[in-house]
Amino acid sequence: MGLGKLLHNHADHAEHDHADAGGTIDYPRAYELFVSIAFAGGRRAAFTRLAAAGRPRAGDRVLDVGCGTGYLSRILSRAVTADGHVTGLDPSPAMIGYATRHAPSNCTYVLSEGQAPPFPDGSFDLVVSSLAVHHIPADARPEALRQMFRVLRPGGRLLIGEFRPPRNHLAQGLIGLFTGPAMRHSPRDLLGTMIPDAGFQVESEGELPYLLYYVHATRP
Ligand SMILES: C[S@@+](CC[C@H](N)C(=O)[O-])C[C@H]1O[C@@H](n2cnc3c(N)ncnc32)[C@H](O)[C@@H]1O
Repeated sequence: MGLGKLLHNHADHAEHDHADAGGTIDYPRAYELFVSIAFAGGRRAAFTRLAAAGRPRAGDRVLDVGCGTGYLSRILSRAVTADGHVTGLDPSPAMIGYATRHAPSNCTYVLSEGQAPPFPDGSFDLVVSSLAVHHIPADARPEALRQMFRVLRPGGRLLIGEFRPPRNHLAQGLIGLFTGPAMRHSPRDLLGTMIPDAGFQVESEGELPYLLYYVHATRP
């Protein structure tokens, strides 16, 4: 069992491949420690680059799906300024509690699932989701993408960030050992055609430092 798996509450306790990698994370302080160590001091730089790929603007209303401890939300909260607002969503009460305790004044957090966000159509200018799509149960991922589309206003932007496995096989095996199956697979395989199938137009995608991969898309 990998260290990452100890933090997870897997939906079905199966560990076959990324299709079964869904589940909440219920130990926010352990998660923070784990991620800080995994990024070896580069987490701030990595997430700042990732946030920039979503092109946040002052005044934006942002939704962070699978926000976890709210790390990316807090970075985005500065980019959208006091005129904007970031709403984080996660099904783990422990994660929502942690994020709420650390929230700047323009961030709020909601207990919910990505496949059933409790917001009216067109509520957001930007929807982001970092390292979370692989946590949504496989059969609910297409619906989660459709919901991201629904809650974005026309012309709104989507940013999905996921891990990409290292090219080196030894490093790939080590990462898989510690983090579980989702991070041994290509994010392109994970996402497939879900983003365009939900109605989005993909604008750009690619690799970022620190084994991150992003897709930036718009709602036409
Ligand atoms: C690896 S963490 C990523 C947290 C944060 N976005 C980050 O980048 O640090 C994945 C998160 O997805 C959440 N999650 C699990 N199932 C979900 C679902 N159905 N919808 C939305 N988020 C979910 C977990 O509880 C966890 O907080």
